[in-house]
Amino acid sequence: MRILLVGSGGREHALAWKIRQSPLVEKLWIAPGNPGTAELGENVPIALTGLDALVSFARDQAADLVVVGPEGPLVAGLSDRLAAAGVRCFGPLQNAAEIEGSKSFCKELLVRYRIPTANYRVFSELNPAISYLEGGARYPLVVKASGLAAGKGVTVASEPAGARQAAKAMLEDGIFGAAGRTIVIEEYLQGAEVSAFILTDGRTFTQLELCQDHKTLLEGGRGPNTGGMGAISPVPQVSERTRDSIERQILLPTLHGLNHDGRRFHGILYAGLKLTPAGPKVLEFNARFGDPECEVLMLRMRSDLLPLLCAAAEGTLENQEAPEWDPRPAVTVVLASGGYPGNYATGHPIEGLDAVAQGRELQVFHCGTALRDGRLVTAGGRVLAVSALGDDLNSARRRAYSAVEQIRFPGMTYRRDIGAEAADALEALR
Ligand code: AMP
Ligand code: GLY
Repeated sequence: MRILLVGSGGREHALAWKIRQSPLVEKLWIAPGNPGTAELGENVPIALTGLDALVSFARDQAADLVVVGPEGPLVAGLSDRLAAAGVRCFGPLQNAAEIEGSKSFCKELLVRYRIPTANYRVFSELNPAISYLEGGARYPLVVKASGLAAGKGVTVASEPAGARQAAKAMLEDGIFGAAGRTIVIEEYLQGAEVSAFILTDGRTFTQLELCQDHKTLLEGGRGPNTGGMGAISPVPQVSERTRDSIERQILLPTLHGLNHDGRRFHGILYAGLKLTPAGPKVLEFNARFGDPECEVLMLRMRSDLLPLLCAAAEGTLENQEAPEWDPRPAVTVVLASGGYPGNYATGHPIEGLDAVAQGRELQVFHCGTALRDGRLVTAGGRVLAVSALGDDLNSARRRAYSAVEQIRFPGMTYRRDIGAEAADALEALR
C-alpha cells in the first residue's frame, strides 16, 4: 500500500514508526514530516495548511490511504476534499471534526445527548461574561477559547480577577485570534485526568487502551497548561468497571449523537476526561490521536495498525479483530524548549541522541526538530518524546529517564514525575 501521513510532530513520528512495521506498506510519505520520520519514509515539503497541494499529491501519487495526524487539516476540511478527489482518508469529515474545532458545539452536543460534562455558559461578548464572572459564578472555574488553541487556550481561575483577565484577553485583546472570539466558562472538575480513544468507521468501534497525559508544565500539576508533557498507558488507577462506564456513558452516546445529527465520525474519537467523585465527565473531545498519548499507544500496540486505519476509512471495521496490546506499561517523557509554552528560542543543537540505544522497548520520537547543516537542532516547543516500555511502571519510567539523561540541548526542560502518581497509587494498592 501507498500511504501519505500528514503531520510533523511526535504523534506522526510514532504513527510512521508503527505504520512502517506493517508488511502491507509499499511506500510511505510524510507531509511535511520531521527528521525522525525521514528515517522511516520520504518527507514531502507540503505544509499542513496546503490542503490543495496535499490532495493533488495524494491523487498524483495514487496513495491508497491518507492518514491525518493533527486536528488543523481535519477541521479545515482535508478529509472532505480527499473524499471528493476519490482518495481514502483516515480522519473525520469537517462536520464531524467540529467536535474538536468548536468547544461550544461540543458542549451543546454533550448536553443534548445527556453525556456527563461540566456545567457551562458560552459568551461572545465581554460585558455579559464579566457580569457572570462577578455575579453568579462559582469558583474555581475554567475559561476556555472555543476554537483551536493547541491545548493552551484554557485558564483555571480561583477568583474573579483571574477569570476576568482571561476573558478579556480572549474576547477583547484577541490573544487566540478567531479561536477566542467565543469563550466557554465552565465548572472546575476535580479528579484524575484520563484520555480515552475509540477507533471507528462510524458504525463499529474499538476502544484503544486508556492513557494519562500530564498537561501542566511543572511537576505536581503546577504551572501553565501545555500540549502535554508526558503520558503513560495503561492508567493503573482506572478499574475495568470505570473503563466500561466510560465506553457506555460517554464514548458510545457521543458517537451515536454525532451519527444522529448527520455527522458520521470516522477516525479517532478522543475523549479528555476527569474521573470525578460523581463518575467520569468530559473535558473535551478531539478528532485525532493525542500527542503524547499516541507515542505510548504505538509502543504498546502489537497488532498491525494499518489494516485498522484502512478499515476505519472504508467502513469495514466490523471485519477486523480488536487490536492486541502489550500488557506492559509505557511511559513518554517530553523534552521541551526553555520558555515553552510561552516564547522559546529554536536552533539549539541536540546532543547525545546517537548514544541512546533505541529498539522495540525504547524510542525517541521527534516532535520539534530540524536538520541544519547536517546537525539536529531544536525547532519547536516540544522537541523530543522519549518513550519506553517496562515490565512494570517503575521500570518503564527508569528506562525512559535514563535515556533522557543522555540527551542535552540548551534550555532543555522536562518533568521528572511522569507516571509517578500512578506508580504511587499502585504501591498503595499493594
Ligand atoms: P481542554 O483543552 O478543554 O482539554 O483543557 C485543557 C486542560 O485544562 C485539560 O486537560 C485539563 O487539565 C484542564 N481543564 C480544562 N477544563 C477543565 C475543567 N472544567 N475542570 C478542570 N480542569 C480543566
Ligand atoms: N495530549 C493532549 C492532546 O493531544 O490534545
